[in-house]
Amino acid sequence: PLGVSRSEEGEISVSGVPVAELAERFGTPAYVLSEDHFRARARAFYNAFNDAFAPLCGGVDVYYAGKSFLCVEVAKWVEQEGLRLDTCSGGELALAARAGIDGSKLGLHGNNKSDAEINRALDMRIGRIVVDSLQELERVAEIARVRSLRAPILLRLTPGVHAETHEFIATAHEDQKFGLSMASVNGEDSPAWQAVAAALGHDSLELLGVHCHIGSQIFSPEGFALAAEKLLTFIASVRDLHGVSLKELDLGGGYGIAYTDVDQPQAPEELANAMAQVVGATCRQLGIDVPRISIEPGRAIVGSSTFTLYKVGTLKTIHVERGGDTFERRYVSVDGGMSDNPRPVLYGAAYSASLASRRSDAPPVLSRVVGRHCESGDIVVKDAYLAADLRPGDLLAVPGTGAYCWVLGSNYNYTPRPPVVAVSQGQARLIIRGETEDDLFLRDVSC
Ligand code: LLP
Repeated sequence: PLGVSRSEEGEISVSGVPVAELAERFGTPAYVLSEDHFRARARAFYNAFNDAFAPLCGGVDVYYAGKSFLCVEVAKWVEQEGLRLDTCSGGELALAARAGIDGSKLGLHGNNKSDAEINRALDMRIGRIVVDSLQELERVAEIARVRSLRAPILLRLTPGVHAETHEFIATAHEDQKFGLSMASVNGEDSPAWQAVAAALGHDSLELLGVHCHIGSQIFSPEGFALAAEKLLTFIASVRDLHGVSLKELDLGGGYGIAYTDVDQPQAPEELANAMAQVVGATCRQLGIDVPRISIEPGRAIVGSSTFTLYKVGTLKTIHVERGGDTFERRYVSVDGGMSDNPRPVLYGAAYSASLASRRSDAPPVLSRVVGRHCESGDIVVKDAYLAADLRPGDLLAVPGTGAYCWVLGSNYNYTPRPPVVAVSQGQARLIIRGETEDDLFLRDVSC
């Protein structure tokens, strides 16, 4: 899907550009992003969801979750493919403005938005602010009132669905920081109910609908279906009690991708059809109109579009003794690590690696690909079988690094951040330049 091919000598090319050329021109490590693949995934989600939901509600708005990876160039691709942009900070709003994206195509998230961010969103005539708490609802209402504006809002609800994913990226159960709980305690109205009443009471708010995001890297559609049922039931109750039809339902992002052979993601069409079926049936059962649906995929669009290119450095082999057995493990150090991909350290995330610069007929040996940072937890790939004759200077490709790698990167150990290189139809170009040594000292006022 990345347009990856191997030459007779075993060298990998992506979109027709050989990895040695990429390493030579841009250095290593480098994130190599296939523009064609990114655009194809964006279109796939757009088409699958619009086709599946067209008969029900006219169509679906697909908001690309910018937090997964964003730069001005990519924001432009997003818009060109007909998607909108989900932002979650003033910085991401600023990026959208620099990319020339109209405010009406933006959403703003966050559990602790500042007044400045809310104002900025309103300045940009944002399409929707996703309100996360009762306090925030009052703040948005007040800011909009003072400015004689009507702020378009969605309410982020927590439907109490337990998504099967890492604890840190599951977001719809009760005991976490996001959203308005749908559960009532001691017979009181739930925060979700209170928020609806409060929103309808403010002329400065336009309550468009409700939102939920159950978590990230999720494979089974059941969680999404369950969340959709709960939110549609909520929409029906709002109609019954307040006589108001909420027009929009956002089902968030979270669609999983394959990092290794173990992961089995669903095709966008399968997901979209399964969700459309549940939404259609539930609305019929509840006797409500199908609201306009939106989704917010990030990882599923950008994740598999990118691989990180590393250069092999130091190698060492150790003998491991376990349960009376001994085996060998080779440590393969590369020139990046947790500063360009902290996901293995943060979530125990699994990746794979392959020798990209040449073919080897040597037998594969158990290897651990590790970074260059001063921590033993700085692992890129925990267990990889790589050619026994691997040597310094070989290039390794680690696929699936498009989402939550560059954006979570750091300058740990005063390491400059790597460049992002876009490849398309035989051409490679820089879309984010790598940091230089000078960049590292730009903000040190004693320099
Ligand atoms: N919508 C909302 C409200 C979100 O909070 C997120 C992700 C998304 C959409 C997009 O989710 P996606 O489709 O990309 O799964 N750093 C973690 C993932 C954090 C996800 C944060 N929110 C990781 O590397 O796995």
